[in-house]
Amino acid sequence: MSRETKLEALLAKRRDQGSFRSLGHKQEDLIDFSSNDYLGLARSTDLKASIHDEYTKEELPNGSTGSRLLTGNSELTISCENHLAKLFGFESATLFASGYMANLAIFSALPQRGDTIIYDEYSHACIKDGCRLSLAKRLPFKHNDLADLERKLKEAGGEIFIACESIYSMDGDKAPLSDIIKLADQYSAKVIIDEAHSTGIFGQNGAGLVSEMSLQDKVFAVIYTFGKAMGIHGACIAGSKPLKEFITNFSRPFIYTTAPSPHEVITVRSAFDYLKNHPSLPLNLQEKIEHFNQLLPEFSSLSPIKSIVIGGNEKTKEVAQDLQNQGFDIRPILSPTVKEGSERLRICLHTFNTKEEITLICHLLKNTLG
Ligand SMILES: Cc1ncc(COP(=O)(O)O)c(C=O)c1O
Repeated sequence: MSRETKLEALLAKRRDQGSFRSLGHKQEDLIDFSSNDYLGLARSTDLKASIHDEYTKEELPNGSTGSRLLTGNSELTISCENHLAKLFGFESATLFASGYMANLAIFSALPQRGDTIIYDEYSHACIKDGCRLSLAKRLPFKHNDLADLERKLKEAGGEIFIACESIYSMDGDKAPLSDIIKLADQYSAKVIIDEAHSTGIFGQNGAGLVSEMSLQDKVFAVIYTFGKAMGIHGACIAGSKPLKEFITNFSRPFIYTTAPSPHEVITVRSAFDYLKNHPSLPLNLQEKIEHFNQLLPEFSSLSPIKSIVIGGNEKTKEVAQDLQNQGFDIRPILSPTVKEGSERLRICLHTFNTKEEITLICHLLKNTLG
């Protein structure tokens, strides 16, 4: 019997469910309504030039050469972290190679055996994976449902952590942050917020929703990621100084990995400097969001993410393919990535999408959905 039989059986099941994944590549000839490059920074030649200028200013090594606790730390990294802490309005920031790693780092290490993590059921996979690595009890609460959150708070024991996103990655809707924080306060729970899809878009100089709403003193930690609106790669955890010391001492995804390279660190710093010098970018995006919301109010959201639920893997793939054939890069989001029955098109708006393109896609969607 083949060594691969079990794998083949699982893959066959995936094919039967219409959710088999394979690696394609970006179709450059299509109009991008799919990537997370909301501000167009990933394609900015000006940002590329400033990263290059900063990187070539001094003699820097290609790699960081080790973990942060051994040879991988540098003045450059510390200065970037201090800059990020100030920008987001926290005492400390700790850099990671990605948002996935940052979420693993905080949720795997912080809640201890006997503690409880209560997380929104729509939380990103990396929040859930981080929680699974922890020895704490895990309780999901219904999406954005404060009554269910309170029920779970009543069930919780030990130190209680609440995890949510500011803007949800698949639905593009906002969490009721102030209400979650108020409730958390009543139960002495610590709130941790993932700002993956609000970093760069909201707040002064792209500092996110927690900063825009001045909630820094009321939350325990925030995860900011740089692979979405910032157009680059990486992430940080922002919080108190003791939190940074705790991560440095106890968080395995921080300790046992090679530190970000000087080029990555310079890229992060340059992207935020670039955004500071181009405050019209988030305003431009906001105009595109409002244009879409006016044309398709039933799919209106505060964010550039528009979720058009179709239902069924095959049907959703068909609709996406049809829109691709008409020149638009729109991807189907299938189960099990989202719940069965809620398979959808995830449309992302960008500064570089023209109003005419948005009008056209809204028109096509109206026709498709009937
Ligand atoms: C809410 C959320 N958190 C974290 C991540 C992971 O971030 P990264 O892509 O930087 O690993 C994502 C990525 O899709 C996300 O949507």
